[in-house]
Amino acid sequence: MRFGHFDDDAREYVITTPRTPYPWINYLGTEQFFGLISHSGGGYCFYRDARFRRLTRYRYNNVPTDVGGRYYFIHDGGDFWTPGWAPVKRDLDRFECRHGLSYTQITGERNGLRAEVLHLVPLATNAEVHRVTLKNLGKSPRSAKLFSFVEFCLWNAWDDQTNYQRNFSTGEVEVDGSTIYHKTEYRERRDHYAVYGVNAPVAGFDTDRESFFGLWNSWGEAQVVAEGRSRDSVASGWAPIGSHQLAVSLAPGEEKSFVFVLGYVENPAEEKWERPGVINKTPARELLARFQSADQVDAAMAEIRDYWSGMLSKYTARTGDPRVDRMVNIWNPYQCMVTFNMSRSASYFETGIGRGMGFRDSNQDLLGFVHLVPERARERILDIAATQFPDGSAYHQYQPLTKRGNNDVGSGFNDDPVWLIEGVAAYIKETGDLSILKEDVPFDNDPKNTGTLFEHLKRSFHHVLNNRGPHGLPLIGRADWNDCLNLNCFSEQPDEPFQTTGNRVGKTAESVFIAGLFVHSAPDYADLAEAMGFADEAKDAREAAAQMSQVVLEHGWDGDWFLRAYDFFGQKVGSRECEEGQIFIEPQGYCVMAGIGVEGGQAGRALDSVKARLATAHGIVLHQPAYTRYHVELGEISTYPPGYKENAGIFCHNNPWVTIAETVLGRGDQAFDYWKSTAPAFREEISEVHRLEPYCYAQMIAGRDAPRHGEAKNAWLTGTAAWNWVAITQHILGVRPELAGLRVSPCLPGSIGELEVTRQCRGAEYRVKVTNSGKRKPARVVVDGKPVEGTLVPWAAEGGTVKIEVAV
Ligand code: BGC
Ligand code: NOJ
Repeated sequence: MRFGHFDDDAREYVITTPRTPYPWINYLGTEQFFGLISHSGGGYCFYRDARFRRLTRYRYNNVPTDVGGRYYFIHDGGDFWTPGWAPVKRDLDRFECRHGLSYTQITGERNGLRAEVLHLVPLATNAEVHRVTLKNLGKSPRSAKLFSFVEFCLWNAWDDQTNYQRNFSTGEVEVDGSTIYHKTEYRERRDHYAVYGVNAPVAGFDTDRESFFGLWNSWGEAQVVAEGRSRDSVASGWAPIGSHQLAVSLAPGEEKSFVFVLGYVENPAEEKWERPGVINKTPARELLARFQSADQVDAAMAEIRDYWSGMLSKYTARTGDPRVDRMVNIWNPYQCMVTFNMSRSASYFETGIGRGMGFRDSNQDLLGFVHLVPERARERILDIAATQFPDGSAYHQYQPLTKRGNNDVGSGFNDDPVWLIEGVAAYIKETGDLSILKEDVPFDNDPKNTGTLFEHLKRSFHHVLNNRGPHGLPLIGRADWNDCLNLNCFSEQPDEPFQTTGNRVGKTAESVFIAGLFVHSAPDYADLAEAMGFADEAKDAREAAAQMSQVVLEHGWDGDWFLRAYDFFGQKVGSRECEEGQIFIEPQGYCVMAGIGVEGGQAGRALDSVKARLATAHGIVLHQPAYTRYHVELGEISTYPPGYKENAGIFCHNNPWVTIAETVLGRGDQAFDYWKSTAPAFREEISEVHRLEPYCYAQMIAGRDAPRHGEAKNAWLTGTAAWNWVAITQHILGVRPELAGLRVSPCLPGSIGELEVTRQCRGAEYRVKVTNSGKRKPARVVVDGKPVEGTLVPWAAEGGTVKIEVAV
């Protein structure tokens, strides 16, 4: 069952009923200022850091779900309603929400009045702009009242939801004509305030929440709206809000637009005040002046569309299946941008107060982002690397505002360092920018202790080699990719966090997954070493990888699949000898991607075992059998009820590893089937089961052990986006940048007979046409009319266009 449809030409998903199975959200903003917005207008916005600079309040896990947002209430002759349906929930004659790329337009109609609200964060602007257009669809003149509404957050979102003894007394605002200023804590250490203005004279306003709603009323019963009468309240402590009242008269067929701006403003310390107690409003006025007319909003929208057209033209595909095309051409890269911007901080499942930027996560996010805005990827790489410790280990997380490692979570996740190699390699393959390897980058943000970026990669690589366990496999530390496989934790106390508790000294527990990751990263690392002129290091690295592959085949092979790990006591994890958790997905995917056991046949056996034991119609589960009791020696993985999250859920992030692994073996149909099983556009038709947005990946789909098998959770912020981008575009459609050229090596399912890919890379354009007979091995590649050996097309000069024909 569907709740809307894709509009591919407009690059929008059009939701046609407000009663979606869950709030379906979108993101506004591209670089510094962001908003989360649901299909009914719920959500919040923040400047750069969702915890420390939150402009508007949002209550997670609320009843009903998703109340709180930017709302435009209409009072129409005693009747009142909201165009997004919620929070008033009066029946609408028509509802439509168009989630587009960095904008959302919500339209509601009731009794012949249409209200359309367009939300965007214009490029290079620290503000949400809302254009509200009211249209009289009837035959007689009418007058209505429009009430805007936002609830301010007292900046620190954690404090805001916990520290009421203080923050019920700190709230302060100023009102100046049609503009409301939220200035809590500006009197002391803050140099920023929020501004909420509209481009028209107001008939009233409110800034005090209780005055607006009435103490005992719900969101849908605001007394100001119900009575059609603002209180002109000025908040003093308690809960500051912003609400304007506009009186609107409309002739038959007439429409009028109003532009609201909700922005963030910073002043230099010496220019904070206009006069004692009165904030300096100059920069706010400049901001508002940029959006005084509907035309200015149109221009800002056009810029956003151009911005996305430019980015999406880096890779476009025509496969003959609109569901594949819309994932590849629109929604998957869009989600990659969102995950790059947010890391794992702010979504409807991540509260924006808990987690900073993950070292592992941010590196993987780069895989899907480097082609979009390479300059930003470069900056991100240098930021991440600067948090690495001198011994190559890494803070697991860092804060976006300070760019410093986060001490609360600390380090010791032994896969972390290797992801830096994967991220940097992806960036250099895309751009050819080897100069980044020579950048001087601090360790642990200490300007006195620095090394080149290449030196950082070297420390990453050697961190694995320097931390091996009894079998010669990498030590796992606190955990590896699977944050919940906590083999040194041994926690018996419910109040201990799994991720930071280490009750045993971790010198025995080993990870086959890290071994696979290490072997996978080694050729890239060696190539980069060579490019730097370190031929010996390159040679050593290749040897180390070959050795590690041997160790995996010797100590990490269980007979029909790769083992997952050895625990603290040297017992196998992910073996047929285990009572539960006999086979895990991660090492099967990553070891085969790394090429381990491809020649000896183990790779094929491992993937056949995945299909036989882990694959379901909704995707591949993480392991089987699920853990049915708490295993103190395994940690958090065994805490989840069977079928959820890391305990045998379908972790969409590592499904594409198996997809890619299948292409390593040349099994295109199987690869494509796996890819389709979690791809949102393919799951759209079962939205009532999947429940989350059909235009972005979720982190998890409940596995077959769960009563709610097939139901997704944790939409948007997941490495799933980047990895599926890699799987479909680089391995199934098979067009990927390498150091020496563009690889064209499709591994297609029989259902795709013809394929066209246009790829812009390093200043040139490559037009690839593939005919798939399923029979031609090796592929035949013709470049600009001339047959070539192999599948690597050398880089063309900047400005060039290269025509590539491939027959497979
Ligand atoms: C989740 C993991 C997550 C970890 C770190 C765990 O509870 O299951 O998916 O990576 O927390 O925040
Ligand atoms: C989510 C985390 O963000 C990611 O880093 C981790 O790899 C997965 N969960 C699996 O535990």
